[in-house]
Amino acid sequence: MKGMFLQLSRAIPPALRCGIHSGTRPVSTAASKKRVERLLTSEEIYAREGKHGAHNYHPLPVALERGEGIYVWDVGGNRYFDFLSAYSAVNQGHCHPKIIAALTSQASKLTLTSRAFYNDVLGAYAEYITNMFGYDKVLPMNTGVEGGETACKLARKWAYNVKGIPKNKAKIIFAEGNFWGRTMAAISSSTDPSSYEGFGPYMPGFELVPFNDIPALEKALQDQNVAAFMVEPIQGEAGVVVPDQGYLTKVRELCTKYNVLWIADEVQTGLARTGRRLAVDHEDVRPDVVILGKALSGGVYPVSAVLCDDEIMLTIKPGEHGSTFGGNPVACRVAIAALEVMEEEKLADNAQRMGEKLRAQLNKLPKDIVTTVRGKGLLNAVVIKETKDYDAWRVCLRLRDNGLLAKPTHGDIIRLAPPLIIKEDELEECIDIIQRTIMSF
Ligand SMILES: Cc1ncc(COP(=O)(O)O)c(C=O)c1O
Repeated sequence: MKGMFLQLSRAIPPALRCGIHSGTRPVSTAASKKRVERLLTSEEIYAREGKHGAHNYHPLPVALERGEGIYVWDVGGNRYFDFLSAYSAVNQGHCHPKIIAALTSQASKLTLTSRAFYNDVLGAYAEYITNMFGYDKVLPMNTGVEGGETACKLARKWAYNVKGIPKNKAKIIFAEGNFWGRTMAAISSSTDPSSYEGFGPYMPGFELVPFNDIPALEKALQDQNVAAFMVEPIQGEAGVVVPDQGYLTKVRELCTKYNVLWIADEVQTGLARTGRRLAVDHEDVRPDVVILGKALSGGVYPVSAVLCDDEIMLTIKPGEHGSTFGGNPVACRVAIAALEVMEEEKLADNAQRMGEKLRAQLNKLPKDIVTTVRGKGLLNAVVIKETKDYDAWRVCLRLRDNGLLAKPTHGDIIRLAPPLIIKEDELEECIDIIQRTIMSF
């Protein structure tokens, strides 16, 4: 099978291969009492996880144990192109040597001080990232959803302290189809029943407008109690929904006109994924607040950040917001390295060029199977027309069998988002796999 090979290292007898990814049942000898574990098959790995882990995900059946660059390997030694990139966290490629070096060197020096004390890395990171993106300050957090929570809290504080909205009356507007994580606040703004159903009551003060609808946004912003409009420049989890050219420019104009903060959720679209450093750069517009996450660590550590200017950031005073791990030395070193890789390896330019090539080729697929191809840079999706013979899930299973990993989102949509370091010949091989797979139904 093209794109797959058996690794020689797998020939090492199982008994000698005890390690993180090997199996459960320890076998001890009286002489050494050393734990030696048997390798598990993929099926055993699925069963163990299903038995002991919560069932809050539905993974594609493939059990991975190693990643390098654009590739991942399963426990049977099969190699795959990674076309999900951990939902755009692994933009720099799996286990990027520079990022791993930053992680391991800092991890053996100083990992966590909490923010009760200063550490010698946070300031360097804050200076670096604020200079890169042109904002006065950064507030470091860990996951993307914490970045969203932080942005919402900043917007409310700003609303009361600067805009003068009466106490507890501030509203935040979101776009229908948004996804910014799984906390109570995030699901309270969700229009996807699988995110919010059964978890009520919900956060008050959140309202919705349709995505990519400027008249509806203008109507909503006329309410004097609106503090902010929070939106993804391209809706990732909704299925890579790209708004009309000019939408972001209009959002900027309207937020300025009505004295409302524009919060850009760039957790998935940011950091070169769409062919620019930030997706808002496609229209050369500057949000008031930018949220970053995922690829801010190249996928090796949870690192998120909120960027904004002093008028907004300094409304939060000591003791009013934070996180034990946010801004820890490992996270800061890793983030600096991840951002340096993005710049040094010109990931945005490559994403732009490879994305154009990918969409041009995917558009040649029969329209009665692939009804839509959309995206920007290397954040792309195809919409599969479902029939009794095939659907997006079955297409993904066959892609896996042909050596490429992708995951359906919302039933009929498959996201295609490889690491941004992919080279032209590698992309051609992937396009060939995708075309052959789709034509095989
Ligand atoms: C646009 C966007 N914002 C926020 C999040 C939440 O990030 P995390 O899962 O790290 O909390 C995601 C996750 O997919 C996302 O796509």
